[in-house]
Amino acid sequence: MDRMRIGYLGYGSYIPSVVVTNEDLERIVDTSDEWIQQRTGIQTRFVMNKNESVLQMAVEASKRALADAGLSPDDIGDIRVGVNTWNRFPSLATQVQYALGTKESSASDVSAGCSGFIYAVEDAFNKIVIEKMKYGRDVKTLVIGVDGLSLVVDWTDRTTCVLLADGAGAVVMGRTEDNEILATCTEAAGKYGDLLYLDEFLNNQLTGENQVCFSNEKKIDRPFLHMQGKKVFPVAVRTMISNMKKVIERYNASSSGEPIRLTDVEYVFPHQANLRIIKAIADFMKMPLESIYTDGIKKYGNTSAASIPIGYVDTLGKVKGKIVIDVAFGSGFASGAILRRA
Ligand code: UT7
Repeated sequence: MDRMRIGYLGYGSYIPSVVVTNEDLERIVDTSDEWIQQRTGIQTRFVMNKNESVLQMAVEASKRALADAGLSPDDIGDIRVGVNTWNRFPSLATQVQYALGTKESSASDVSAGCSGFIYAVEDAFNKIVIEKMKYGRDVKTLVIGVDGLSLVVDWTDRTTCVLLADGAGAVVMGRTEDNEILATCTEAAGKYGDLLYLDEFLNNQLTGENQVCFSNEKKIDRPFLHMQGKKVFPVAVRTMISNMKKVIERYNASSSGEPIRLTDVEYVFPHQANLRIIKAIADFMKMPLESIYTDGIKKYGNTSAASIPIGYVDTLGKVKGKIVIDVAFGSGFASGAILRRA
């Protein structure tokens, strides 16, 4: 069988409508525009208004990706959504499927912190390969990264509320000659679970007590996100760098062509958590900051699973033909990378 080239057929994103500036945050917590810009690089972030939702953002980004691909919902055979802020079932992916009206597609959510989009792309890639090799079917998939972190932010906690925001990004994936996913890798380090978590997870899962909550004693009105940022920071840098090396090694081990070296990488889409983390990656790669996506953290803050596909749309046309790495890190700590010819 000829080499199966799988890549992106279309891109879409959705930024919610309410802008929150650093000055807005100065009015609700003890912070300053100077501190936020120096320590994080964030200038603005966007959150949902009352008429917007995680589902609506996911659907809008998907419609835009389908339009960009020139495809209709009926062309989609599978939907994967990387999301952390859909704390219910049925899954978000099934509700996107219903909203889009895809006729014959499977649909499921992937919970992998801010790396959800990378995990979802890897799942979709594997699905496309298996469907073709085992069942002879050409499947196109819709992959979404979306989060509404404003729903779980404690707006009195200055250590997190200045960082987090809402947004969605989506791609359509399938067989193509135009661009190619060369390799993917994912990994997890659950021992760090308590450095970045949602309240209910800790109360119900990590105490060692009965996991079923029979009384309302421990119940909280709504779960909040908690992060020990200072401890997360160095692990984030280390892990993202090791994922970048690993995805290249995986490609080279699986390909008979010219090996790719780290210095061949021409552009990087890192998860947008902190401009200082991105700068550390640039230093390691010995790359100018212009070759790394940074606009996301400045304009949109940390949009979790959405930050990488939002970056695709922001840079459309700029990275065509380049060797690119997407790399993410988040709660879990779940992390991963994608090596692509864009
Ligand atoms: O997306 C998933 C993965 N997430 C990450 O990778 C995030 C990783 N961590 C970070 O990005 C950074 O650690 C933060 C941006 C969260 C914090 O930056 P930092 O340079 O590590 O600051 P810090 O936690 O060491 O805090 C320094 C000081 C503290 O005051 P004292 O103890 O020195 O008096 C904090 O209380 O800054 C204070 N501080 C603030 N001051 C003004 C913390 N948050 C704020 C704030 N405004 N918003």
